[in-house]
Amino acid sequence: MRLRALIDRISMDFENSDIFFGHGTFNAFDEAVWLVSSTLNIPFSSINSDLERVITDADIKKIDQLKSIRINQKIPLAYILKEAWLKGYNFYVDERVIIPRSIIADLIDEDFYPWIESITRTESVLDLCCGSGCLGILMSLNYKNIQVDVADISDSAIAVAKINIKKYNLEQKVTAIHTDLFSNIKNKKYDLILTNPPYVNAKSMQDLPAEYQKEPKLALASGEDGLDLTRKIITESKSYLNDGGKIFIEIGHNRDRVDEVFKDLNIWWVDTGSSSDYIFMINKEDLPN
Ligand SMILES: C[S@@+](CC[C@H](N)C(=O)[O-])C[C@H]1O[C@@H](n2cnc3c(N)ncnc32)[C@H](O)[C@@H]1O
Repeated sequence: MRLRALIDRISMDFENSDIFFGHGTFNAFDEAVWLVSSTLNIPFSSINSDLERVITDADIKKIDQLKSIRINQKIPLAYILKEAWLKGYNFYVDERVIIPRSIIADLIDEDFYPWIESITRTESVLDLCCGSGCLGILMSLNYKNIQVDVADISDSAIAVAKINIKKYNLEQKVTAIHTDLFSNIKNKKYDLILTNPPYVNAKSMQDLPAEYQKEPKLALASGEDGLDLTRKIITESKSYLNDGGKIFIEIGHNRDRVDEVFKDLNIWWVDTGSSSDYIFMINKEDLPN
C-alpha cells in the first residue's frame, strides 16, 4: 500500500469513529497525517513528496494498532505518540501533563504586539502553571536574552517540563520550579508573567469528552466558576512583577464571568490572530496590593 492510500484509509476510519478532536488537530484527515508521519518518521514538510512511497506491511500493522488504541480507548494521539506540536516546535508529552494548545503561544508568535512595546527588552519571565513547560520554552526559543522560570504544583508535570528543557538544551536559560502558585518563588520579580491556569468550571468538567478526561484533572478543574486559580493569581501576583511589568492570563470561554468577578480591575482583553476573549492582561500598577 502507498502512503497516500494509507493516510486516506486511516482518515476514513477516524471519520467513521466517535473520537473527539482538539488535542493537536481538529479533523480526521490531519489526525491521520499526524499518526502516519510520526510513526514513519516523515517530517510534515516532506509528506507531499512521499505520497507514492510504498509502506511495508510491518509499518502498516503498527499504524493500525495505534489507530485502534486511538479509536477504542479514546486516548489523545499526543499521548500515544508521546509528542505534541506548538508553533512548529515538538514537545515530549505523556499523561502527566495537559497536551499543549495554549493561545498564549499565538501571542509569543506575534511578539506580543501591540501589548509590549519591545519584547526584546524583556529580561525575565515566569510561566506559571507550566505543565510541559511549552510556553516558557517557546519564550526562551524566541527571545535569546530572556531568563525563564517555569512553575507548576505537579511534580510529575515538572518532570516532563525538565525533559523538554533538556530536549532544547535550555538548562542555562529555563529553570523548573515545583510550587503551589507563588509559594516557592522566593525573592524574585519578573518583567512578565504568563499563565494558562486550570480554568474549567464544575459543570463543564462533568461534560468533558473522553479524551479530555485522560488529561490530569489538576490541569483543568478550577472550582465552581472556573476562576479559583485565577482569583489567587490576581491577588498574589503584584509583588512578583517588576515595575512596568505585566501579567497575561488565559481563561478559555469564561470572559463574561471574568468581567463580572473582576469588574473593579483595569483589565485588557487581548485578541490574537486566531482568538478573541481568551486572554486578558493586567499591568502591575492595576493589580491589587
Ligand atoms: C491548563 S494547564 C497549562 C499547562 C501549560 N502551561 C500549557 O499551556 O500547556 C494548567 C497547569 O496548572 C498546574 N496547576 C494547577 N494548580 C496549580 C497551582 N496551585 N500552582 C501551580 N500550578 C498549578 C497544573 O498542574 C497544570 O499543569
